[in-house]
Amino acid sequence: MAVALIVAAGRGERLGSGRPKALVSLGGRPMLAWSVAALRSVAAVQAIVVALPADALDGAPEGTRAVAGGEHRAHSVRAALRAGAGDPVIVHDAARPLAAPALFEQALDELALSPEADAVIAAAPVTDTIKEVSADGRTVARTLHRARLWAVQTPQVFRRAALEHALDVPDSELARATDDAGLVEAAGGVVHVVGSDPGNLKITTREDLRLAELILAERGG
Ligand code: CTP
Ligand code: MG
Repeated sequence: MAVALIVAAGRGERLGSGRPKALVSLGGRPMLAWSVAALRSVAAVQAIVVALPADALDGAPEGTRAVAGGEHRAHSVRAALRAGAGDPVIVHDAARPLAAPALFEQALDELALSPEADAVIAAAPVTDTIKEVSADGRTVARTLHRARLWAVQTPQVFRRAALEHALDVPDSELARATDDAGLVEAAGGVVHVVGSDPGNLKITTREDLRLAELILAERGG
């Protein structure tokens, strides 16, 4: 049975609401509650662990286990992983409250059907053309081939042993990681993608929060 880790220990500095982003109100409940509700409706999930700032552990919804997060996101993932038994492991950002239950299920199914994969991540095909710019910050170095570029999201699901191995690196390396699958790749693991859509929005700024409110209102939620 699967364990779900929700990382919610960030400070939400770019949102600037004076409290942890995961606890900011969205559509009438804390942002974190949306991810918990989605995961509760996934049959394979046996437990939900939430990493929160050490001074906000009482913000964990009932029925979830709260742990203190770490300095950087990957430290929070590691703390949550240690607190929850279960295999495979779902890692999800509280900052993506609009992820649908079906997306978690698709990722779990893809992992179950792919013995060669160590992890499966949700990602959306990139719609912008992406160029690499030189270190001078103004000269284009090259244009990447868009058909093969995907914008990475969460959820990301892992075979437990692969995630434990990937996180078993110095703290300084974890501090540089922007996603957990990248750590699995660095350890030589195989990562698959499942197609998501840009509606699985990441809330970073006030504008993102406003957009998420509109999407929820349209969904009738
Ligand atoms: N996160 C975490 N522990 C950290 C840092 C981030 O659990 N030390 C979580 C956040 O709570 C969020 C996700 O990782 O759900 C993605 O991080 P981000 O969007 O950067 O959120 P914040 O760090 O809260 O925002 P900011 O960078 O603006 O402070
Ligand atoms: Mg952050």
